[in-house]
Amino acid sequence: MPLKMDIKINIIVAACSNRGIGLNGELPWKLKKELAHFAFLTKRVEDKNKTNAVIMGRKTWDSIPESRRPLAKRTNIVLSRNSKYLGPEVHICNSLNAAVELLKQPPLCDIVENVWVIGGSSVYEEAMKSNFCDKIYLTNIKKELDCDTFLSEIPNDFKETIDPDVPAAEQEENGICYEYKVYQKINTSL
Ligand SMILES: NC(=O)c1ccc[n+]([C@@H]2O[C@H](COP(=O)([O-])OP(=O)(O)OC[C@H]3O[C@@H](n4cnc5c(N)ncnc54)[C@H](OP(=O)(O)O)[C@@H]3O)[C@@H](O)[C@H]2O)c1
Repeated sequence: MPLKMDIKINIIVAACSNRGIGLNGELPWKLKKELAHFAFLTKRVEDKNKTNAVIMGRKTWDSIPESRRPLAKRTNIVLSRNSKYLGPEVHICNSLNAAVELLKQPPLCDIVENVWVIGGSSVYEEAMKSNFCDKIYLTNIKKELDCDTFLSEIPNDFKETIDPDVPAAEQEENGICYEYKVYQKINTSL
C-alpha cells in the first residue's frame, strides 16, 4: 500500500523559439546563469533535512558530464528500459509510473520534498500529460537554434503563474535573450 498518495511533479526545461531542447546529445547553447537557475530551483527545499528528486531519461543522464553526475544534493532517478546499473547513488526505473511508485515508498517518501522532471523529450511529454504534473518551469530562449530534440506543446490546461524566486525580467547571456516562465496545471485532480 503506497504511504504517500499526493505526489506532485514539476517540470523544468529550457527551449528555444523552434521548441528545440537538444543537439547531438548536448544543450544547443552555453548559458551559465541559466544552468545556475536550474540548480537553484531543483535544489530548493523548505525542510533542510530533505532533498529533491530529479527524474530524467537515460540520454539526459548521458548528456551530463561524468564529473557532474549524479546531480549533487538531489536524488537521481534515471528512466531506462535497458540500463541496470549507473552507480551506487542512482535509482533506475523502467517507467515514469515506476519512478512515482518508488517515490511514494520508504525511504524516499521520507527524505524527498519536491520531484523534478528534467528531460528529455518523451519524458517531458509523458510528465506533462500525467495527472501528477503540477508546474512547468520553462526558460524561453528567444532565438531559433539548430536542434534535433524538441519539446512538445504545453497542454492547454496549464496557465501562467508566478514563483517569487523566479526573476520576471528578461535575461541576457552570451548575446542570447531569454525569460523564465512558470505554468501551473488548472482543474487538476490532485
Ligand atoms: N533544454 C533542456 O532543458 C534539456 C533538458 C534535458 C535534456 N536536454 C537535451 O535533450 C537530449 C536528450 O533527450 P532525449 O529526448 O534525446 O532523451 P531522454 O528522454 O533523455 O532519454 C531517452 C531514453 O530514456 C529512456 N526512457 C525514456 N522514457 C522512458 C520511459 N517512459 N520508461 C523507461 N525508459 C524511458 C530510454 O532509455 P533506454 O534507451 O536506456 O531504454 C530512452 O532511450 C540531449 O541533447 C540533452 O542535452 C535538454
